[in-house]
Amino acid sequence: MTPKVRIAIEEADVIVGYGTYIKLIQNIIRKDAEIISGTMGKEVERAKIAVKKANENNKVVMVSSGDPGVYGMAGIVLEVAAQEKTTIPIDILPGITAASAASAILGAPLISDFAVISLSDLLTPLGKIEKRLELASQADMSIVLYNPQSQGRIEPLIKAYEIMTRYIQPDTPVGIVRQADRVGQTAKITTLKNLLNEEIDMVTTIVIGNTATKLVNGKMVTVRGYDITK
Ligand SMILES: C[S@@+](CC[C@H](N)C(=O)[O-])C[C@H]1O[C@@H](n2cnc3c(N)ncnc32)[C@H](O)[C@@H]1O
Repeated sequence: MTPKVRIAIEEADVIVGYGTYIKLIQNIIRKDAEIISGTMGKEVERAKIAVKKANENNKVVMVSSGDPGVYGMAGIVLEVAAQEKTTIPIDILPGITAASAASAILGAPLISDFAVISLSDLLTPLGKIEKRLELASQADMSIVLYNPQSQGRIEPLIKAYEIMTRYIQPDTPVGIVRQADRVGQTAKITTLKNLLNEEIDMVTTIVIGNTATKLVNGKMVTVRGYDITK
């Protein structure tokens, strides 16, 4: 998180968020703050509670992981607030998205154009995800995969692998980062052909390099083209 986010959390009267994320910030929440935590899948409910609490004159913080504007709660809060015709000011405070966190751990794989694609087909049809994977793979962009796999949802990753290997060389470097910047962080650099042999879950971000990505002293670097011999 950024210092601005930290201050907002410290000053909040009410904190709303998914239980797992609330636990991660427990130590900076005011002792007398009201905490409203919930489960995955109850996003609309949480957004409505947050707007209601703000309408009651509370300083409310709705928590997302990483950046709230990247597969986070920012959009839904703005939509609900508009529907409720509220005039309370809403600040979207940017955070460090998993792509940036994972990239920094791996080296510098996203130094040039890249695409971020979520493999979650809960809100996006699989066909649309496949098309985005296909076009990004054809365009020789580095690709970051969010929501790669969960228990019982392995099909999108297998499909993604099939699509990417049609266009991307099998020995292209791939970085796999779990729990970035959290307790239990792991990171591994492998190749596209070995992607499906790795341990991948819902707290994993996968970074697939492009044709300019190579290993530099063990780090994954997408070479931008500077002449460093001069
Ligand atoms: C619903 S998206 C939320 C993204 C979040 N708003 C962000 O900006 O990072 C959840 C996905 O983000 C990625 N992710 C979030 N936090 C992560 C972390 N600490 N380490 C690795 N991947 C993470 C995983 O791919 C996970 O499945």
